[in-house]
Amino acid sequence: MDVQIAVLDYGSQYSQLIVRRVRELGYYAKLYSPEKLIELSGLAGVILSGGPNSVTDPSAPDVDFAALQALNVPVLGVCYGMQLLNQKFGGNLKPGTTSEYGPARLCIEDDNTLFANITNESQVWMSHSDTVSRLPEGASVMARNEEGIPIALRFCKNWYGIQFHPEVTHSHEGRGILENYLKQLSAEPGFDVEAFKKEVIREIIEEVGEREVVCGVSGGVDSTVLAVLLHEAGVKVHPIFVDTGMLRKNEAEEVQKQFAEVGVEIETVYAEERFLAALKGETDPEKKRKIIGNLFLDVFFDHAGEVELFAQGTLYPDVIESATSGSIASVIKTHHNRVNRILELKAEGRVLEPLAELFKDEVRALGTSLGIPAYALNRHPFPGPGLAVRCPGEVTKEKLDILREADHIFISGLRKHGWYDKIWQACTTLLPAKSVGVKGDVRAYEYPIALRAVISEDAMTADWVEIPYPVLREISNKILNGVKGVNRVLYDISTKPPASIEWE
Ligand code: XMP
Repeated sequence: MDVQIAVLDYGSQYSQLIVRRVRELGYYAKLYSPEKLIELSGLAGVILSGGPNSVTDPSAPDVDFAALQALNVPVLGVCYGMQLLNQKFGGNLKPGTTSEYGPARLCIEDDNTLFANITNESQVWMSHSDTVSRLPEGASVMARNEEGIPIALRFCKNWYGIQFHPEVTHSHEGRGILENYLKQLSAEPGFDVEAFKKEVIREIIEEVGEREVVCGVSGGVDSTVLAVLLHEAGVKVHPIFVDTGMLRKNEAEEVQKQFAEVGVEIETVYAEERFLAALKGETDPEKKRKIIGNLFLDVFFDHAGEVELFAQGTLYPDVIESATSGSIASVIKTHHNRVNRILELKAEGRVLEPLAELFKDEVRALGTSLGIPAYALNRHPFPGPGLAVRCPGEVTKEKLDILREADHIFISGLRKHGWYDKIWQACTTLLPAKSVGVKGDVRAYEYPIALRAVISEDAMTADWVEIPYPVLREISNKILNGVKGVNRVLYDISTKPPASIEWE
């Protein structure tokens, strides 16, 4: 599968999002640094991304204009990309005073190509930076903002520039605009997951060579796809699963079964006692996290031994630091005093991150194509420190066992009533304040359990889910009757912010 669209990266945090949108629309796109352009051939189109610089700055990143012209394909400049093209064609810019992002109206003047079937005055999201002060010769304005400033230009046949970001969802019809650009190409859509998978596997084989790869698996989507991908690539791989004792009911068995189903052998390291001992007496949430994070990496690397190559399931959102993924990468993020070990490996070229260009849904699609069962790909996120963050106060085996039972009933109830796949994450928390109750005519001084179910897109914000009362009632009854040590069930109706998803 040949790359069809080169997205030249001028440093916008949305550059990879353009790649993803183009792939969603069926064309194979890849991100390149601008100086790579000269080496590329067989492209059907080129998109120049946005970026934080001003083209009026002499040291701003450039484009090899002659190489771009020689390709003879439709070109789209986005934001900085548009300004760069404007300059190359001989136009002028007026430096802006701010570089904030904000909404604007797309007042269309030419609806033939990019804006065919796009609603006039629909919202687009743009950066208020440099503005075009003089058009290049032969260029025309395709759209302005509500203040009459040009925000879309046609430089010549099939070469366009837009000042706004079509790749973000805040640009309400951005997808349609990108689709209209792709309609200008002389190539048919050529992206498919199967071919993409082969490409990723080819790259892995090339990078790994004869080395042995060690990776951590948690049962979550990213590390599962990573391990199966490495296995498929036929390289020597040693996946390690650390059972911290902070896992949910049957989780270790389920993870083992999940990997057995796809033919991948994993090593399980049982370390419950070490973790419980290390956590003994600790009640401070941050200290608890630190203890677990540090110990996790100690246990992991003790078992891994001398690592030739360390693979982790870092995704693109992890790279741009906007989401957590349940991978070792995100565990590490919060444990800076151990991160050096990984950084050293990285500096020596001994870290492999084959998913780093992908978004979660792309990883899921890859997982499906690798034959990973849907239940494994659709699991809710689970925090690296596990149930310890759902057990405020001191963590003990007794509390964890109670929590595991209650959580199992909650999750099973959600599955039974078809709610599991509708929600983003469900968690059960055992609160440390015992309360008075009566069980079978006897005073019961026991723990309360808080149930929480949220929807979210990226874990940065979340809303609680309106699970029907009869479903909550059934789950509550089962917990109260079935779990020794619990006499009260609460449902958490807090949004994030201010409440976080986890209680600690
Ligand atoms: P909060 O509680 O911050 O959680 O709203 C946001 C998301 O991140 C998960 N989470 C973690 N994931 N290591 C992880 O891999 C962690 O230390 C960690 N803490 C929270 C949480 O489950 C939710 O999905």
